[in-house]
Amino acid sequence: MRHLIAGNWKMNGLATSLSEAQAVAEGAKAAEGKADVMICPPATLIERMRRATQNSPLLVGGQDCHPKASGAHTGDVSPEMIKDAGGSAVIVGHSERRTDHGEADDLVRAKAEAARRAGLTTIICIGETEAERDAGETLNVVSRQLAGSVPDGDPSDIVIAYEPVWAIGTGRTASEGDIQEAHAHIRAGLTARFSAAGSGVRILYGGSMKPENAAAILAVADVNGGLVGGASLKAADFLAIVEAASGG
Ligand code: PGA
Repeated sequence: MRHLIAGNWKMNGLATSLSEAQAVAEGAKAAEGKADVMICPPATLIERMRRATQNSPLLVGGQDCHPKASGAHTGDVSPEMIKDAGGSAVIVGHSERRTDHGEADDLVRAKAEAARRAGLTTIICIGETEAERDAGETLNVVSRQLAGSVPDGDPSDIVIAYEPVWAIGTGRTASEGDIQEAHAHIRAGLTARFSAAGSGVRILYGGSMKPENAAAILAVADVNGGLVGGASLKAADFLAIVEAASGG
């Protein structure tokens, strides 16, 4: 399965950042057919990023969406709006949303269903906290989040991102053995629920992925790409990860 390298810009990026996206778009051309490349900028930049990179295979996505298509929900963005702005994907259930906004699995699932309604690819994030890992609960937490956050139905428009919360933005990464264990567990859960279609769902690793560790992490079985935060903000770092994912 071809790797997907998705950059999550979080609450970073102004018009001046579009030159980084254009550099990534050039790199995405070189990686075409070998790895898929995506940037999820803040909603304010989706349309401008799409326009600035339109003759490239770079995919552009949102970072969150509301379950409804429209309505009285001040400050929210619907998946239909992301699609209208030129986005083709959306992240849901990121741990920063789960923590900062109290989002639980049932809401994450409703968002994923809404993204499907709008025709977007959905990156659904799951992962344990440090306390849960220390308590030996990692695989239980991952199973619970997978069962609760992933909608029923054909999963071909779904990507799972395994992001141990303690590894996000901390410079700490899970060991290759821990990543392998979690990804194998997620794969088993997906095939138990979706049969053969579950084996085609990409499982990304996220949490302090950077040029120095990308090749080793991407070589782990059942790692089908990365969700990259900090290291996606500079084109040179992000493209080094894309190159590792392209077998380069
Ligand atoms: P990080 O973030 O690469 O900065 O750890 C990853 C993420 O939160 O998706």
